[in-house]
Amino acid sequence: MSIFSKILLLRCAAGGGGGTGAYRHYSVPAQNHLRELLSTQLANIKEAGTFKAERIITSAQSTEITVQGSDKKILNFCANNYLGLANNEEIVEYSQNLLSKYGAGLSSVRFICGTQDIHKQLEKKIAQFHGREDTILYASCFDANAGLFEAILTPDDAVFSDELNHASIIDGIRLCKAKKQRYKHRNLDDLEQKLKNDSDSRLKLIATDGVFSMDGNIAPLARIVELAKKYNALVFVDECHATGFFGATGRGTEEYAQVMGEVDIINSTLGKALGGASGGYTTGPTELITFLRQKSRPYLFSNTLPPAVVAVGLKVMDMLLSSSELTQRVQSNTQRFRSAMTKAGFTIAGENHPICPVMLGDARLASKFADEMLTRGIYVIGFSYPVVPEGKARIRVQISAAHTETDIDRAIAAFIEVGRSLKVIQ
Ligand SMILES: Cc1ncc(COP(=O)(O)O)c(C=O)c1O
Repeated sequence: MSIFSKILLLRCAAGGGGGTGAYRHYSVPAQNHLRELLSTQLANIKEAGTFKAERIITSAQSTEITVQGSDKKILNFCANNYLGLANNEEIVEYSQNLLSKYGAGLSSVRFICGTQDIHKQLEKKIAQFHGREDTILYASCFDANAGLFEAILTPDDAVFSDELNHASIIDGIRLCKAKKQRYKHRNLDDLEQKLKNDSDSRLKLIATDGVFSMDGNIAPLARIVELAKKYNALVFVDECHATGFFGATGRGTEEYAQVMGEVDIINSTLGKALGGASGGYTTGPTELITFLRQKSRPYLFSNTLPPAVVAVGLKVMDMLLSSSELTQRVQSNTQRFRSAMTKAGFTIAGENHPICPVMLGDARLASKFADEMLTRGIYVIGFSYPVVPEGKARIRVQISAAHTETDIDRAIAAFIEVGRSLKVIQ
């Protein structure tokens, strides 16, 4: 039988992910086997209540959005749009200009013909913002984390990683051949013990999120820096939930912890507070950045950032280098929300960060609570096991500089109303 008769290509009428017009290789046993295996696993995920359905937004990302199936505007409290710049007019206009001038993309990796003057300008501005020597751009911070450890660490080195670090740090560390030590979450005694036990590594690198996004809690960076000095280790911090808005002028966790300039390597994202488009970076010593340009695989083997995206980063950096007003606004909005919610009787986890987890405990309660909030025009998401520990379900509220005080007060009023009706508060 020829391959053509074996493979019967049928156009699928509907559904099945591919939608109308998708080809289905019905008669190929290996593919049928894969479909069966995955269908069973998908059914299990649904059964466990952990299937992630995506709500489809029909407007720009903003504090007010519309979603498919409704033309009602809803107030958005679950984006990482901390500075409210995701739909900023000035940024969009600048991005349109650079799109016209520099084209849609480079069709190349950086070292072949994918470096424009704007990529170099953005790297310089980010380094300036963080007070570092140089910066290397990636397509995402996931890539920056995937490309760092494997490039610089060898089997003679050791990496000490907080057990609750972001998945991309965990994956990045998995790719490297260094000795791996996971220390208990934010537990300095455990970290110190592990550092003490390592007397022979060529390089020791402590790796931590600056801010842990599920709890809104902060790495004890001042003490980590102290331990690093004591045991001659380097410090790496992922600043995705800090750059641009955390610390007095938005310089991040090291500013908040008053150890500016003492972190050796910072990775962060352009896809959250810094305009919300996409892109990531590593910033630090010149030799490190130059070395990553030679060795880091997601940088070497992936297309360069498109000009329109670079433009967003450039404009945001200009704004942040000239003013901390937005940073202050998100901080005062955060305080307004946290203090009123605490006064109303809710437990808000984390420190004074715009990630405000409203702790509810029960998974079903969290899900019902989020649904009730949506009927009142407030978009928040319930998180439960396995994303957070069992029995620690919560609604994670994220505050933005673009929320008005009226927006914040509307959310608080809705929380109080739903909280009373579901007997979470009195
Ligand atoms: C702590 C942390 N690190 C890295 C990433 C990945 O960032 P990006 O979206 O730029 O890949 C995220 C995004 O969710 C994050 O929260």
